[in-house]
Amino acid sequence: MTEKTLDDLFLDALKDIYFAEKQILKALQKMARACQSPEGKMAFLKHKDETEGQIERLQQVFEIIGKPARGKTCEAMGGILSEGEEIMEDYKGSIALDAGLISSAQAVEHYEIARYRTLKAWAEQLGYADAVALLDATLQEELATDQKLSELGEMLANPKAAKTVA
Ligand SMILES: [Fe+2]
Ligand SMILES: [Fe+2]
Repeated sequence: MTEKTLDDLFLDALKDIYFAEKQILKALQKMARACQSPEGKMAFLKHKDETEGQIERLQQVFEIIGKPARGKTCEAMGGILSEGEEIMEDYKGSIALDAGLISSAQAVEHYEIARYRTLKAWAEQLGYADAVALLDATLQEELATDQKLSELGEMLANPKAAKTVA
């Protein structure tokens, strides 16, 4: 048995997030449809478009390291997204639905932020400068999305703020 290296770990983590992003793409479409507030709907759709670009960036990273772009089942994202589905069903038609959707979306973003931070650090250590730039571009989008979701969550909790936030 050959010894595993950081390169192997990097490839495994890349496959994990590649799989996760594809699941997220589908979930964002559903969440946008379910979301009641127009601001929330727009935020989900915007991030869905960004996610398409993020999947392309990952394909570029696979190319940089000379491996085929292939996903590997991400149990963690499966769990986060099925909890989101549960909220969508249980809170359908209620005033708490959007707050629930936003909380699920933030759990997704936090997982992604953790993954992209790690991937970026490993790409740096492995000397894949071009991959670092690609992973950082996505990391910045995930951070901005998380921030936007926090603002939306506050706006929904305090409808009077809606007029000042938008
Ligand atoms: Fe993403
Ligand atoms: Fe994201």
